Amino acid sequence: MDFKTLTPSKTGWAGVQADALLVVVAGEGVPAGLDAPLAAALDSALSTGDFACKAGRTLYLHRPEGVKASRLVFAWSADASAKALRKAVAAGAVPLDKGGTKHLAVGVAGVGELGAAHAEAVVAALEDSVYLYRATKPSAPEPARLLQASVLCTRAEQRAVAEGLARARAVAAGVHLARECANRPANVCTPSYLAEQARKLAKSHGLKVEVLDRKDCAKLGMGAFLAVAQGSEEPPRFIVARYQGAAKSVAPIVLVGKGITFDSGGISIKPAPEMDEMKFDMGGAASVLGTLRAVAEARARVNLVGLIPSCENLPSGRSVKPGDVVTSLSGQTIEILNTDAEGRLILCDALSYAERFAPAAVVDVATLTGACMIALGHHRSGLFAADDGLAAELLAAGERALDPAWRMPLDDEYDEALESNFADMANVGPRAGGAITAAKFLQRFARKLPWAHLDIAGTAWRSGKHKGATGRPVGLLTHWVLARAG
Ligand code: BES
Ligand code: MN
Ligand code: ZN
Repeated sequence: MDFKTLTPSKTGWAGVQADALLVVVAGEGVPAGLDAPLAAALDSALSTGDFACKAGRTLYLHRPEGVKASRLVFAWSADASAKALRKAVAAGAVPLDKGGTKHLAVGVAGVGELGAAHAEAVVAALEDSVYLYRATKPSAPEPARLLQASVLCTRAEQRAVAEGLARARAVAAGVHLARECANRPANVCTPSYLAEQARKLAKSHGLKVEVLDRKDCAKLGMGAFLAVAQGSEEPPRFIVARYQGAAKSVAPIVLVGKGITFDSGGISIKPAPEMDEMKFDMGGAASVLGTLRAVAEARARVNLVGLIPSCENLPSGRSVKPGDVVTSLSGQTIEILNTDAEGRLILCDALSYAERFAPAAVVDVATLTGACMIALGHHRSGLFAADDGLAAELLAAGERALDPAWRMPLDDEYDEALESNFADMANVGPRAGGAITAAKFLQRFARKLPWAHLDIAGTAWRSGKHKGATGRPVGLLTHWVLARAG
């Protein structure tokens, strides 16, 4: 979808040429200063007494008098925040999603000065409203016809709004890629498929991509990654994708994404219900590809490296077994007590690999633990970082992007649970505090790195009727990288 700013002339919003006009009203009631024809249309509808002006409500009017657009939708927002605006625009887009609206104009009344964050919220809501997965569902309805959206603003607001639209467009492209990858089933989205997507991205966006196969990884000594990969016939891939937007001498940011394209649990096999959702276990990898795309489209002056260890976790005659001890790339040995704690095994070797880039910061992103989902639900991702400055940067980026995270602890007491009689560490601790012990495991491989970890088990996809990838945390990561780029 294309997004523009539009500064209406004297005729005001009622005179705007578009197929539909969406007027978001912040707060309760009828906004002051609304164009006369719009106010009249709203007054007349309200005079029926059928309708309350409350957050979440919308009102659709057809061919209102004195209004150029043939469709007029009012959508009420709880307050003037970008977060509330995103919800209101999402609601307001619903009555338009089946119609012939190609060009939508969006006006926001009652927020005071419209800023970049508001513009980003409008883009996020509209892009989400038109997203439809069709890759393996030919019977899905035709894609939405909404092609262009204009955000109405004053001259004074135009600069900030345009800047917000540009950033949001880049984020949306990244979110789209992440969703398209993660939604594909595991028989389509294999490690080789992810490598192919990285190569495509390299071509279209000028990245450098290198893909290591099983042999390459064995030569390097990635014993933990390969232990997970050994149970499957599907060849593993270790993807290295590099975006260079700054001088070569500038230390890069490294993003590491968990790329388990299907997690059956392995020999420690998972129960059958909802196991299909373990195709989303490459959500971290998808978000790293998405962030690379967003950052490249924004032409950010930064160096960014994406590392994606990718394989399947399956039971077979060749699978790694509970009790097996493997040697990681770092040289530390690991007793694999539970083959279902595979994410940390592939990530630890990727973290060791990250050292060679002498990075300014490393963030790994993973659908790592069911425990994190229990702790935080589906709204906030879990953030782990020893460094307060890095943690604050990432939390702030999440708030700005409306893709929020919440900081979790890393006290050393949690580390003791990983002690083993047979190796330098075990790959699991007790059930309690499972998201934290997983992070403590990773931290053992990040001692030489400025490191943070995002557990996105609760936020990378939705279950139930609206099952599907969310594209999170591309927003958080992109905002963070762009802020670092300055
Ligand atoms: N991919 C899962 C985590 C997961 C489970 C995410 C359910 C979202 C929903 C991960 O590989 C896993 O299986 N973790 C185990 C760890 C345990 C064995 C210590 C878990 O969370 O149960
Ligand atoms: Mn698992
Ligand atoms: Zn997993």
